[in-house]
Amino acid sequence: MRFRALAGVALAAVLVWAAPAGAQTIKIGVLNTLSGPFATLGELIEKGYKLYMKQNADKLPPGVKIELIVRDTGGPNPDKAKQLAQEMIVRDKIQFLTGEVFTPNALAIAPLTQEAKLPFFIMNAGTSVIVNRSPYIARFSFTLWQSSYPLGAWASRKYKTAYIAVSDFGPGHDSEAAFEKAFAEGGGRVIGKVRMPLANPDFVPFMQRVKDAKPEVLFSFIPAGRQATQIMKAYGDLGLDKAGIKFIGPGDITTDEELPNMGDVAVGVITAHHYSAAATRPTNKAFITAWKKEYGEKSVPSFMSVGGWDAMDAIYYVIREQKGKVDPDKTMELVKKYKNPNSPRGPIYIDAATRDIVQNEYIREVRKVGGELANVELETIGMVKDPWQEYQKK
Ligand code: PHB
Repeated sequence: MRFRALAGVALAAVLVWAAPAGAQTIKIGVLNTLSGPFATLGELIEKGYKLYMKQNADKLPPGVKIELIVRDTGGPNPDKAKQLAQEMIVRDKIQFLTGEVFTPNALAIAPLTQEAKLPFFIMNAGTSVIVNRSPYIARFSFTLWQSSYPLGAWASRKYKTAYIAVSDFGPGHDSEAAFEKAFAEGGGRVIGKVRMPLANPDFVPFMQRVKDAKPEVLFSFIPAGRQATQIMKAYGDLGLDKAGIKFIGPGDITTDEELPNMGDVAVGVITAHHYSAAATRPTNKAFITAWKKEYGEKSVPSFMSVGGWDAMDAIYYVIREQKGKVDPDKTMELVKKYKNPNSPRGPIYIDAATRDIVQNEYIREVRKVGGELANVELETIGMVKDPWQEYQKK
């Protein structure tokens, strides 16, 4: 007994001695949605950044370890997000903040990141204005303007009338404004608009309104996840497809992980987005193979998973460039130079002026590939900067 205790002390001494000079642990706070009706979204993000960490452990400087401090907001819940972020800053002394599915949460914590000089690398929240709210924010996901503006231009070349139905919160308002602007610029006419509740929506009455208005095309944004399948079902159940009303929107409405639940009504739906699990570029194929090996053959990553993957790659990059001794201002200077020609979504870089991501947008169509629904990329719109930021300059 006594001998074992002594041996334990000796072993501990050896371990301390053996740790390489400069060994350190970097604390990363992850604010995410891991419970409640939107839990699948946070899980897809988590699986994305964890897969990255597992595959790229050798990309950290020797001796540098990462400690993740994960907190759950349970969905869009700005007060809780703020409280959790504050605790992670004051008590846990995190050096990075990342994660965040939801715009209202990201907006609530933006001022804290500025006060605390805390780099916040966003993995999802997509309302354009977020990056303007703190110089310590950089975004690795998308904006709704990036997808909905090019889609509005595309739609204006094919259709004359549109109806817009969006979830009533930041990203919904952005997608509505972006689509409407581009559609009108291309000569199209919006004949009706409706904003739907974010929590527990019943889409049937809204689809009835759209059907009665008889537009050529329905443009919609809802948060990805189960709501995507619910709105698709309401669209089909009320026979909007049979009435010849084309369904289009940002890729959130045909999010890859929900396609298997949607049924054939989704076939032919057109979306604009930066990521499709069905994309055939080699880095995406490798990503899908690694994903399925880790999480099972039936598991499908979504654009949120790739947001998690890319944000973690950027965190590793800024840690590496600083040899593990991270300084917030240096981190923000470095992230403005971040680029990756080979993300699973294609080439990406951070716009130094806005700290927002620049990436391809793809016009996709839901088709059956090998008997399964897939977002098949048809056209590429190269390296899109957030159009909203571009309009702010004018
Ligand atoms: C957001 O809150 O910014 C958000 C949430 C879900 C999405 C897209 C954006 O699918």
